[in-house]
Amino acid sequence: MNNTLELLKNHTSIRSFTDQPLTEAQRDAIFKAANQTSSFSLLQVVSIIRITDPELRKKVMQLSVNQPYIEEAAEFWIFCADFNRNHEIAPKVDLDYIEYLLIGTFDAGLMAQNALTAAESMGLGGVYIGGVRANIEELTEVLNLPEYVIPLVGLCIGHPAGEKPGIKPRLPKSMVMFENQYQPLDEKKLANYDQQMREYYQDRPVKAPFSVKKVKGWKDHIEDHLERSRLPFMLEYLNKQGFAKK
Ligand SMILES: Cc1cc2nc3c(=O)[nH]c(=O)nc-3n(C[C@H](O)[C@H](O)[C@H](O)COP(=O)(O)O)c2cc1C
Repeated sequence: MNNTLELLKNHTSIRSFTDQPLTEAQRDAIFKAANQTSSFSLLQVVSIIRITDPELRKKVMQLSVNQPYIEEAAEFWIFCADFNRNHEIAPKVDLDYIEYLLIGTFDAGLMAQNALTAAESMGLGGVYIGGVRANIEELTEVLNLPEYVIPLVGLCIGHPAGEKPGIKPRLPKSMVMFENQYQPLDEKKLANYDQQMREYYQDRPVKAPFSVKKVKGWKDHIEDHLERSRLPFMLEYLNKQGFAKK
């Protein structure tokens, strides 16, 4: 197995960091890897806001449901879908269509993943912060984002502290990858995976900010998190920023 495959297979989110900053060379390498990511029609509709001001970092942490690693990580980058640049160049194009949201979201996700992979390849670690969308309107204000720009995900990057968490099991291939036709949910395979996750959480030490051992399986996790993830203000917010009007 080559180094890239090995790296990808061993991914695990890191939520605990030492105080050591990244060097400029490391930051630059991560940025270059991210910036070379494929881009839909080369529209290049992603901007990254690097949060270096400690006060602002604290504010962003508070807005992102107080996840402490946002403040602790050496770097915190916010990936935004950014059609403002394109709009400046081609102001006559109607950007109301929802497809632009899909394009921007997809490109930002790909770019963020290349950034994380680049960081991991240098022995650094990180975690995404979808929590930046919890108070998206206020975040948009504090970052001074104009119309056609929306913050999608944050990325903490730093030197991992302590022991690396165990690799989190994923659904088996037969539940995720189908040949030619979609396959319905297989309850037996689901039960197996559920048990695997139960055991994973049972073995995993509880670390701040969490104080209670997670004893649930994956089914319970979905029940808890699916509903919690719906941010009912999102459509109104997107429309206000110029996205997804039709
Ligand atoms: C788009 C996205 C947003 C995420 N947001 C958060 C977050 O706000 N806080 C957090 O602790 N982890 C967040 N995560 C990390 C996931 O919880 C993590 O990837 C998942 O539990 C699998 O664990 P692993 O990455 O260690 O394999 C996010 C991941 C993704 C892809």
